[in-house]
Amino acid sequence: MPEKYFKCHVRYCFWHDKMNFILILLVNSCLGHHYSNKRFPKDFMFGVATSAYQIEGAWNEDGKSESIWDYALHKYPNLTVDYTNGDVACDSYHKVAADVAILKELGVQHYRFSIPWTRILPRGFQSEINMKAVIHYQNFIKKLKKNGIEPMVTLYHWDLPQSLQNLGGFLNDSLPEWFVHYAKVCFHFFGSDVKYWITFNEPVHICLGGYGYGYFAPNIYGEALWIYRCIYNVLLAHARTWHLYDEEFRLIQKGKLAMSLNNDVYIPASNKETDIEAADRLLQFMLGIFANPLYVGDFPEIVKFRVAERSKAEGRNQSRLPELTQEEIAYIKGTSDFFAFNVYTAYKVAGLDYEPPITNPPTISGDQGGTIFQPPYWENTTASFIKVVPWTGRYIFKWIKHLYKNPEIFVTENGYPTHGNELDDRRIFYIKNYLNDILNSIYEDNITFLGYTVWSLMDNFQWNFGYTNQFGLYAVDFKSPNKIRTPRPSAGFYRRIIESRCLVNNCVD
Ligand code: NOJ
Repeated sequence: MPEKYFKCHVRYCFWHDKMNFILILLVNSCLGHHYSNKRFPKDFMFGVATSAYQIEGAWNEDGKSESIWDYALHKYPNLTVDYTNGDVACDSYHKVAADVAILKELGVQHYRFSIPWTRILPRGFQSEINMKAVIHYQNFIKKLKKNGIEPMVTLYHWDLPQSLQNLGGFLNDSLPEWFVHYAKVCFHFFGSDVKYWITFNEPVHICLGGYGYGYFAPNIYGEALWIYRCIYNVLLAHARTWHLYDEEFRLIQKGKLAMSLNNDVYIPASNKETDIEAADRLLQFMLGIFANPLYVGDFPEIVKFRVAERSKAEGRNQSRLPELTQEEIAYIKGTSDFFAFNVYTAYKVAGLDYEPPITNPPTISGDQGGTIFQPPYWENTTASFIKVVPWTGRYIFKWIKHLYKNPEIFVTENGYPTHGNELDDRRIFYIKNYLNDILNSIYEDNITFLGYTVWSLMDNFQWNFGYTNQFGLYAVDFKSPNKIRTPRPSAGFYRRIIESRCLVNNCVD
């Protein structure tokens, strides 16, 4: 990255950081005057997102098999802070009409939801297709379309069939083969009504959480070697799926396909060269490791270099990072029809003035070489991992624009957690300010956005946090037999934005 470019962005960040701090001191409220008065483009899509395990319930109904989350939380209930699981959740599997009704009430253009592999192919393999589930999702998708809502379907939101995990899951090099068979069934049965496909959601968590640090199912504490193997298999699975779609379905179905990448925005802790380099390097390790093969070809140079050097120092005769062959590089490159990106918060990154020691087993954080932290003066939320720093949106969008040749960006998740209805006004502030950064990115930085997606339509199961954080525009009464959905003020706010496509009272066209 050219130095001049980066320095100027760093300055931008510092300025905003200070301004944000001052604003927080000044009652920390929406002052209004700093919002863009430009209108969102006509074809910009506003939507909301959910995922199957987090809302559907019906975990063993209509032929569904056990996923890695079903298995993990049935066996080890203490994996969630409140000992809960997704067995019932919002009961959305039985509440199609209620969910479509609130989507319609919001007036969204698209709804991002996931289909569970375990429902469509209960054995994991294409040998047995569960037609009950196929019909269920066909009806659901038709209902969305009838109500003018574009379905955005995630094929994999973390719920691998346990039967495939028993064979090694993402560490088995057959994973791409298994996945592409599953995807083909979905394209075949649903593709005529689906224009937006997401292959994998937040693959960094699939691999780091599932096979490295063990915080997500299948809860494996592995070494960095396993994380990289998982990443390699995700990339190949994605690329094979894109090629399949491109060769057999695109002409007729006319859809687009991407993988929802994510990362917290990493900004340098100071103007020091080492911090600037570290922020960029850590982004390369977490985001570039997927985006570079998709957009540029191959893993980022800095990632290849550092992992190879450290592998050598560990006495290995090859890098822990799989070396992509020329064929693989060419095969993966170009397999993203838009840049799908989930963003929630940011961290500051400080470089190290020493090389992190070699550990046994080696860790990805050692490979990265840098530390991340969130300043105490950034506004907290009820989730420890999210602080309110929407002004960093523009920073990461520019990073993406610059590195990946200005791709069309679709924000496929962005959301704010609360405890119940308290602080819903801060959710409004949070969404409004991310949308403001998007508007500025569109009009000041010439970045094209296809759309924006609030996480989440309604309160739902939050993985390790169980039901202790609520992200919903709609509150869900989990105690009521009907899991009643009630709009929060933020739902009304979002509906008005969607209607007016404007953040202030009067937009200029
Ligand atoms: C991103 C994940 O995709 C989603 O499943 C999760 O609930 C949200 N982040 C909030 O943590």
